[in-house]
Amino acid sequence: MNPQDRINELTDLLNHYNQRYYQDAISEVSDQEFDFLLKELENLENQHPELKRADSPTHRVGGEITKNFETVKHKYPMLSLSNTYNEGELRDWDDRIKKGLNGAPYEYICEIKFDGISLSFTYENGLLTKGVTRGDGSQGDDITTNVKTLRTLPLNINSKKQTDLFSQTPVQILGENFEIRGEGFMPNEVFDRINQEREDIGEEKLANPRNAAAGTFKMQDSKVVASRNLDCYIYQYLSENDHFKTHEESLVALKKAGFNVSESYRKVNDIEGVIAYINEWSEKRHALPCATDGIVIKINDYAQREDLGFTAKSPRWAIAYKYKAESKSTRLNAVTFQVGRTGAITPVAELEPVELSMTTVRRATLHNADEINRLGLSIGDYVMVEKAGEIIPKVIGVDVARLAENPDRENKKVKFRSHCPVCGTKLYRNEGEAAYYCPNETGCPPQLKGRVEHFIQRKAMNIDSLGEGKIEILMEQGLISDASDLYNLHFEKLLGLEKVHVDEQTGKERKVSFKEKTVQNILDGIENSKQQPFGKVLFAIGIRFVGETTAQKLAQYFKTLEALQLADFETLRAVPDVGEKVAQSILTFFANEKNRELVNKLKAAGLQFEAENMVTEAESNALEGLTLLYTGTFENFSREALEQKIEANGGKLVSGVSKKLDYLIVGEGAGPSKLKKAEDLGVKMINEQQFLVLLNG
Ligand code: IVH
Repeated sequence: MNPQDRINELTDLLNHYNQRYYQDAISEVSDQEFDFLLKELENLENQHPELKRADSPTHRVGGEITKNFETVKHKYPMLSLSNTYNEGELRDWDDRIKKGLNGAPYEYICEIKFDGISLSFTYENGLLTKGVTRGDGSQGDDITTNVKTLRTLPLNINSKKQTDLFSQTPVQILGENFEIRGEGFMPNEVFDRINQEREDIGEEKLANPRNAAAGTFKMQDSKVVASRNLDCYIYQYLSENDHFKTHEESLVALKKAGFNVSESYRKVNDIEGVIAYINEWSEKRHALPCATDGIVIKINDYAQREDLGFTAKSPRWAIAYKYKAESKSTRLNAVTFQVGRTGAITPVAELEPVELSMTTVRRATLHNADEINRLGLSIGDYVMVEKAGEIIPKVIGVDVARLAENPDRENKKVKFRSHCPVCGTKLYRNEGEAAYYCPNETGCPPQLKGRVEHFIQRKAMNIDSLGEGKIEILMEQGLISDASDLYNLHFEKLLGLEKVHVDEQTGKERKVSFKEKTVQNILDGIENSKQQPFGKVLFAIGIRFVGETTAQKLAQYFKTLEALQLADFETLRAVPDVGEKVAQSILTFFANEKNRELVNKLKAAGLQFEAENMVTEAESNALEGLTLLYTGTFENFSREALEQKIEANGGKLVSGVSKKLDYLIVGEGAGPSKLKKAEDLGVKMINEQQFLVLLNG
């Protein structure tokens, strides 16, 4: 088959699999098979870049860098909606609708108001040709390369396979040329994951999913965009001709044609129906995969929309009802300053306990020095507290109506600390960073404790028989001062220790006591941790900016701690995914004698500082569940090496060709009988190069 035909075939097939997976939740092929075909397409596209199609699924994994996004004028302006926060105003709007339609019957479509960024997508001849941000409403940024990474967004609706299920093809349903709009968002799950990772490596956390999504959609490197698994709900269809009579029809059609339309919308006949919908979703919306901030109510009939028309800024036929974030006034009793593992200082408001959205709030982060200045707080002030995203409590400002209750407030202004609240060392701040840090890394108790907590966590040394409370006792008793001391603990030293631990968030007290069984579990956990592979150990020692994945890559690349310690800046930069910041941080870490001492003590305790085991035993699970057989000789492998490679990567070597065989690896001078049998049975045959692709993804 010539490259062009194969590229076309693979593009259509992979788009079909994507569609089935993301729209219908059906996997027609295994992940491996999919990746394998994708890799083949990628290789062909690299060899023949001129043949790469605009709807190629390889766009989904990113790779293209956009230096400056081009500004594009919107064909139809992207208007905003008028907002209301209360039922009375909503009823007034409904009255205006009634009047505007001269008493004719009407229907509303109620939708969830997703809290991301609005995007516009243009389809020409059924092909996604443009993705643009809202911008100022009349023009936005062309972020097509980035929106192509949205896996639920069809790149091409012409593909025949996609239409098998319907009596009409998507093009028949939607037309060839149209524009659709929707809300791009970062799923909550992804947001939490990214923030957890950022916390692990001492990076500042992202403020909320909306900002995170907005920032990600505007990133220059589409590969990073792809890695963040953004998504988009589609809520509007626009075209030159009157394709649909109602909004509902357009939503049904979009869904049928494979677009990601949230099922949460509902058609209602009157304002009572709208209010019932609002009440129903006020709590339920928190179970949706993305942030939401209200409800959008739209007239269903397009002709009626036209009758109602627009004001200068927004349509008269739609309105947004926003849920009020519940806020309450409570007294600021104190501000404490917490010291994290990396030495970052976080100011925390200690509040008079107050009930908010069904939980008791006692504390709220004040983030950093800039936020303290912005809020202008004094101890004793009444402050307004709100739940941001309904989860994390936030101080939004001084309750000005109650200023008089704090007469001496000028003398009680909250000021950020100049010195560490625990060890007294002078704080510093890096240019461009919001946080202040305590530089006393090796002597400041909360930093030491934070580092041991980081060390024992599941993703690191996995000593789950230890926890925050237990570490606190061990430190207070002087039994440990860093992670290496864990490996010198004895049964006798631990038995009988006791302490009342106070949970910082809930204020609840819990007694931690070291009985026989607890002590044994702790010691077993510590002993077992010696088997954790090099990559995990490297993550556990807590080099700033070195997350789980980077640690794994460093371990694979350098194989031994010595090699890593000897590496200079350039050598470190050569490791996949290691940028300047990470490279510099590794150098700084090992330049510190105390860190080198810690590592030496951990080594003496028997921890894994070599990647040897990883290589000889299991390398990956790239071939998991696959049966393979080879025939002939190979350039890169002896027979033994090939067999070992298959097994080390989770594959199963079988002795003969059968229907059950997944792959026959064909080398020089392959046996003709094996080839024939494989061909007859339809067994896939791959060459050495393709085997390497399969192996390395
Ligand atoms: S309809 C002409 N529907 O809310 C009105 N908007 O100010 C077009 N939004 O910028 C918008 N969910 O980004 C519509 N289901 C939904 C929505 C929605 C979120 C956003 C959109 C728009 C803003 C309205």
